[in-house]
Amino acid sequence: MKLIDGKATAQTIREELKTEVAALKDRLGRAPGLAVVLVGEDPASQVYVRNKIKACEDTGIVSKAFRPEASVSQAELEDLVRRLNADPELDGILVQLPLPRGLDSQRILDLIDPAKDVDGFHPVSMGRLTLGLPGLRPCTPAGVMELLRRYDIPTKGKKAVVVGRSNIVGKPMALLLAQPGVDATVTLCHSRTRDLAAECRQADILVAAIGKANFITADMIKDGAVVIDVGMNRTEKGLAGDCDFHAMKDKVAAITPVPGGVGPMTIAMLMVNTLAACRRRMG
Ligand code: GUN
Repeated sequence: MKLIDGKATAQTIREELKTEVAALKDRLGRAPGLAVVLVGEDPASQVYVRNKIKACEDTGIVSKAFRPEASVSQAELEDLVRRLNADPELDGILVQLPLPRGLDSQRILDLIDPAKDVDGFHPVSMGRLTLGLPGLRPCTPAGVMELLRRYDIPTKGKKAVVVGRSNIVGKPMALLLAQPGVDATVTLCHSRTRDLAAECRQADILVAAIGKANFITADMIKDGAVVIDVGMNRTEKGLAGDCDFHAMKDKVAAITPVPGGVGPMTIAMLMVNTLAACRRRMG
């Protein structure tokens, strides 16, 4: 079994970015800038946002944090996004999800300038991905693709099964795996899938993005499969993935651990997207 080390890979990418960010800063007279918006005090979101800001510091990207209270109105939050769109020194805008109850996140995401949509959640970004046009890709699925590339995991003609159809992970993941050049044959499974175990057992590459601890068991995995676990589930025993790592680790060809797998890659790809957005905006 090969352990797919997302933490180490993310660190490598961050080192690569440092050089590129420094060169861009020399050329532009300013570093790439990322606005990070955290509404309210959700503890998990606070951790994610802290890690994103730290990754910026690491790579030389300038981060600007905005922390409206959970009681902020839809109109006030929309005004903030408009101001961030208009700020020439900000290349990326990230609004941490989920937003507190009462706020319409889709309306907020729709307002973000697609040129600054480093999360890749705007309908224009999703549309461009669907059409196979260049654009900013959602960070988590982009991070999974980067792991597959860097670990030389073959995808052409392979059967990939994605479990979970969220807009943030499952849906874009399926599109990326099916795109020309990657050429996997993709099945997108979800909570209404009939005989999920049988679908999973077909997978040469299984991507689990369900949000239920240890939901994918060893008997659902084909011998020699590659397992990518996107799950981040808080349990009494700490952070757990969607896959039963210990039960399947001797059966698979390669697997990502949780923590230390996909999570750090999401943040690394946010940095990649911010650099890309800066380059595209500044020419
Ligand atoms: N919440 C969970 N994942 C993400 C992500 O990738 N970006 C943002 N903005 N919020 C999230």
